[in-house]
Parts: sequence; structure tokens; C-alpha cells
Amino acid sequence: MFDLTGKIALATGGAGYLGVPTCQGLAAQGATLLLADMDERKVAQAVTTIKTALPAARVEGLVMNMGDESSILNAIEHVRATHGRLDILVNLAATAIGKYVEDLSAAEFEAANRVNQTGAFLLARAAAALMPTGGSMIFFSSMYGQIAPDPALYVPPMKPNPIEYGMAKAAILQMIRYLAVHWGKRGIRVNAIAPGPLPHLGFQAGEPEFIQRLAAKTPLGRIGQGADIAGAVVFLASDESAYVTGQTLEVNGGWTIW
Ligand SMILES: NC(=O)c1ccc[n+]([C@@H]2O[C@H](COP(=O)([O-])OP(=O)(O)OC[C@H]3O[C@@H](n4cnc5c(N)ncnc54)[C@H](O)[C@@H]3O)[C@@H](O)[C@H]2O)c1
Repeated sequence: MFDLTGKIALATGGAGYLGVPTCQGLAAQGATLLLADMDERKVAQAVTTIKTALPAARVEGLVMNMGDESSILNAIEHVRATHGRLDILVNLAATAIGKYVEDLSAAEFEAANRVNQTGAFLLARAAAALMPTGGSMIFFSSMYGQIAPDPALYVPPMKPNPIEYGMAKAAILQMIRYLAVHWGKRGIRVNAIAPGPLPHLGFQAGEPEFIQRLAAKTPLGRIGQGADIAGAVVFLASDESAYVTGQTLEVNGGWTIW
């Protein structure tokens, strides 16, 4: 089960904190992987990390910008030219401006949306053209696309989790339902993963009290680690989830259940 041998996968945001373990999980199951991100240095580092852990991994780096339509189309064209099709799409790339509601300009709001919403839509549409029956798309949402951040967790001078981020993550949840219907008869599945509290290593090292607050609010009593994500992605990418579409898999330690 969960064998991805022979499947072609593209992961955007693949060089990020959750992107690397996700890509490693896909490669470990045998997928041929294109690891895409906007930062060339991070892409090279991520590819090296995966190849060090899994010397036989079939992984190639790709630099692209989810905020730029031509860059998205070029990335998909690269997949077509090199592999002829795309079986698995994982969209982890996301951005946030990170200001208080009162300080966020319209231009900043739209710039975040261009990556998080417009980019996700354009990527899905371009990828669908390359997807055979049995293809699987997985879009990263967040628990904050479903519930509001608790301000008590973000004690100043810490910034709150910002509004443009949660609004875009909510939009992803409707996009996957819409596209799951739209491409369902073609046998293309579209699902979301909604991670919960998986703060980056910088937060883990630098904000111990914040980490304690997050853990205390989580039914499982701990924050998530990068490795907690890969299994969920592999499940949705694989044929073991062949009858699952339009769904959101919560990977949040139970955060949204109480
Ligand atoms: N870590 C968490 O606690 C958490 C919680 C909920 C949801 N998520 C979601 O999971 C996904 C991965 O999160 P992460 O923690 O790995 O974040 P991250 O910031 O470490 O990774 C995001 C990656 O996206 C890339 N990216 C940003 N803008 C891009 C663009 N315009 N074009 C191409 N790449 C771009 C970044 O370079 C980065 O490598 C995101 O969608 C995030 O919203 C994460």
C-alpha cells in the first residue's frame, strides 16, 4: 500500500518547513518528484537534504513563483516536456504579510492573495491539463481557514496570525470542493490538508512560552512536527485514497474538535 512508484509529483513550496518532509515522504514511497519553490538556494538545499536521507530518491529542483502566472505555466510546461504527465500535485506554497488588520494596505492584501489564492487556482487549472485519470491534487489550507486565531496565544510583541492568511486558507477549502466536482468525472481527485500548530524551528527555539501555550490548547498535548504531515500527504496522493475527493484532512492534534 501507499506505493507511488512511477508516479510524477510536483510540490510547490517544497523547500519550506513542511515542504521538505512532505517531499521526502513522497520520494520515499517511490514518486519521481519535482520540488518547486521560489528561492533557488533553498531549493538546492532541500534537494540535497532529501538525497542525503534517500540516496535513491528521484528528485529534481525547480525554481518558480506562485505569484506570477507565466512562472506557473512555465513550471507545468517543464513537467510536460520532461515527464509528459503529472500524477500528483501538492501545493504548499503560501505567504502572509503579517500586519495588524488596521495596518494592512489593499496592495498588500492583494499581493498575498495573488500567491495564496490566484496562484493556487492557476496552478490547479494548468496541472489538470496534464493529469491522467487517477491524478491527485492536494492543497494546503490551515486550521486558521476554519477557525479564528485565539488572540490570547499571540502575546505582544508577537504579531497575530494575520487576516489575509486565514481568508486565503478558507478560500482553498471551497476551491477543492468546487474542483473535486468539476474534475470528478475525469477521475481527478482534489483534496486539502489543514495543518494545525506546527510552528517552525525558529519559533520552537526562540518562543518557548508560545510553544507551551500552543501545546496546552491542543488535545494531543503537543505541537506538531514536520514529520507529522508526510503520512497524510502520501495517503491523499496514493491510490489508497482513490474514493476520497473534495475533503479536508485535519492534521492538527485535535485543535478544531473542542
Ligand atoms: N507550519 C504550520 O504551522 C502550518 C499551519 C497551517 C498551515 N500551514 C500551511 O502549510 C504550508 C507549508 O507551510 P510551512 O510551515 O512549510 O511554511 P514555509 O514558509 O516554511 O514554506 C512555504 C514555502 O512556500 C514558498 N513560497 C512562498 N511564496 C512563494 C511563491 N510566491 N512562489 C513559490 N514558492 C513560494 C516559500 O519559499 C517556502 O519555502 C503552507 O501552505 C502553510 O500555510 C502551515
